[in-house]
Order: sequence, then C-alpha cells, then structure tokens
Amino acid sequence: MVLCSQTGGNAYQVPAGRRDGGVSRSSETDGNLPPPTATVNQMTQMFAAKGLTQKEMVALSGAHTIGASHCSSFSSRLYGSGTTAGKDPTMDPAYVAQLARQCLQSGAPAGSGPLVPLDAVTPNAFDEGFFKGVMANRGLLSSDQALLNDRNTASQVVAYANDPSTFQSDFAAAMVKMGAVGVLTGRSGRIRSNCRVA
Ligand code: HEM
Repeated sequence: MVLCSQTGGNAYQVPAGRRDGGVSRSSETDGNLPPPTATVNQMTQMFAAKGLTQKEMVALSGAHTIGASHCSSFSSRLYGSGTTAGKDPTMDPAYVAQLARQCLQSGAPAGSGPLVPLDAVTPNAFDEGFFKGVMANRGLLSSDQALLNDRNTASQVVAYANDPSTFQSDFAAAMVKMGAVGVLTGRSGRIRSNCRVA
C-alpha cells in the first residue's frame, strides 16, 4: 500500500505500514544529525553511514527550501565566535547586514533567539529557491553554503537551481529511501494509525 506525502509544493508516494518507535527524544539524535557548522566531507560521511549517497544528501538538503532556523545556529557567521573572527566572508555582505538586524547578538544558547527562514529567496514555497540562494552566497547555515566548496556538490546545486523538476523528483526519491533507514522490524516498534502521533 502507498500513502501520499505532501511537503509544500511536492507530493509523492511513500510505502505505508512502516514500524516506528513509540517515543521521540531529541537526545537520541546526538551523533545522527550534522551540526550547522558541518563540512561537506562530514555531512557526506554521516549520510553514507545511513546508506545515503552524496547526491541524495544534496537533494535532501533542498528540504531547507522551507522552515526556519534559530539565530543561534548561524549567528557566529554574523559576529564571529571564539574560534572564528568577524563576519563570514562566504556570506553576501548585504545578507549579513539584514540578518544582523534580526539576530542582535552572537553566542546565544542553542535553540534560542528569533527564527529566520532557511530559504532567503522563496521562504514559503517548496521549490529550487534554496539552491538559488546558496549560489548567491545566501545560504543561511554554514553547512548549506559549504555545498559550494566541493566540486561535485557545487555542480549539483547549480543543476537543481536551473532544473526545478529534477530537484523535485530527486528529492522525492531520496525521501522515500531515507524513510527506510533504520526501520524497526519483527516485533519491535509499531505501525502508527495516525502518522503524526506516536
Ligand atoms: C545536510 C545536513 C543538514 C544539516 C547540517 C542541517 C541542519 C539544520 C539546522 C541547524 C536547522 C535549524 C535548527 C534551528 O536552529 O532551529 C535545520 C532546520 C531544518 N532542517 Fe536541516 N539539516 C540538514 C539536513 C536536512 C534534511 C536531510 C532534512 C529533511 C529532508 C532537513 C530538514 C530541515 C527542516 C524542514 C528544517 C526547519 C525546521 C523548522 O522550521 O522547524 N534538514 N537543519
């Protein structure tokens, strides 16, 4: 059986009946979620550890076409931090200035501060705007902007920016594949009757 999953402007079929855990704890994500300072190599390794290719990683990064980030995840790019001095030179200076008006200080605790859209180009549409933003040095997270630092990921960013339908189909396929990562089998976990409720 298949169900239809809808992410903004992208709708695709996902297999139903997956066994899930009965609880969801943020502490259990440690070591599984890359930090906003991750390099392309680090992200590639973390996705590879889940059986996902670098190409699928770039497609899935396109999820940042929607949603928002707390200032704490990128304010070091505006003001510097203990380890980095001053503004991040890989960020468009006009975007730095705009963000600095929204995020008034650096060094706030993780998960705090105002929320800023991850896609500076078309924040409310599920489209290729995220990739266009990265090309314009308007990737919000250092990890997003870093996609331009690697020859292969950079050319994929450009390809998706120019070919939205390929991005949409690659994203849907990679989401279905990611949905099969670490699925519980046998008697562990249970199938949800309502997808959004554990
Ligand atoms: C490639 C490595 C990735 C990194 C380093 C990363 C990092 C982050 C960070 C730091 C935030 C903001 C957290 C905050 O400050 O509140 C965020 C938000 C988000 N991420 Fe990622 N992410 C990655 C991949 C993904 C993937 C694969 C997906 C889904 C397919 C995804 C979907 C989202 C969404 C939807 C939000 C916004 C959440 C909201 O608005 O509440 N990200 N990500």
